[in-house]
Amino acid sequence: MADRRPFIAGNWKMHKTVPESVETARKLVSLVGGVSDADIMIAPTHVALAPVAEALAGSNVALGAQNLFWEREGAYTGEVSAPMLASAGCRYAIIGHSERRQYFGETDEKVNRRIRAALDGGLTPVFCVGESESEREAEKTFSVLDKQVSDGLKGFVADELSSLVLAYEPVWAIGTGKTASSAQAQEVHQFLRGLMAKKLGKDLAQSLRILYGGSVKPDNVAELMAMPDLDGALVGGASLKPEVFSEIVKFKRKQSS
Ligand code: 13P
Repeated sequence: MADRRPFIAGNWKMHKTVPESVETARKLVSLVGGVSDADIMIAPTHVALAPVAEALAGSNVALGAQNLFWEREGAYTGEVSAPMLASAGCRYAIIGHSERRQYFGETDEKVNRRIRAALDGGLTPVFCVGESESEREAEKTFSVLDKQVSDGLKGFVADELSSLVLAYEPVWAIGTGKTASSAQAQEVHQFLRGLMAKKLGKDLAQSLRILYGGSVKPDNVAELMAMPDLDGALVGGASLKPEVFSEIVKFKRKQSS
């Protein structure tokens, strides 16, 4: 069995001003300082990245961006590149989040370019996939995920993806309080790991961390993380309060020790 290190990530989405972000990051650092057996990441808004990086310096909490553009630099008004994010202190970049797919015209092809750019720029992609409620009801979950993964990772070989983190976020469970049951999540995570094995080999699939996202809270994280193919959580709403997010982070630590 692969020994996959737990990964607990907070996606702050479009929340918090710069001072609020810095204060939240500081509080979080003081609450999770003792956690040594999980990777922890927070993704504030772009404008808060550099000051939050300062607040996280020397801590066990890593910084991530919520998106990036695939070119390195140039006349692309309003965009931010992977090297820029890395220079602000980011180690990770969330890519292909369903909110970007839903509201900002994100396609699998663009996701593919962003993943390539993240890796070229020295960032670890946290690649998000997930089906909508109607797709699940129409029993298209597996075919939708197959397409998102296949097209998102088109042209990559296993060696390039050793750092990749995959996140399964069923759209119907995001911000709704409607979590996937642990059995539903496990079924999909197992499918995704099998798909990765088929496409990129068993070794990569076994070491790949697959996070679950969608209404993760301190009171449901236990049951979810007990599943064999769930290696962590991508947390939205519950990551905004450091006291609540740290409970999620610490639960994982208790479980794995
Ligand atoms: P919630 O935890 O608010 O459901 O959001 C999940 C998510 O989209 C994380 O990226």
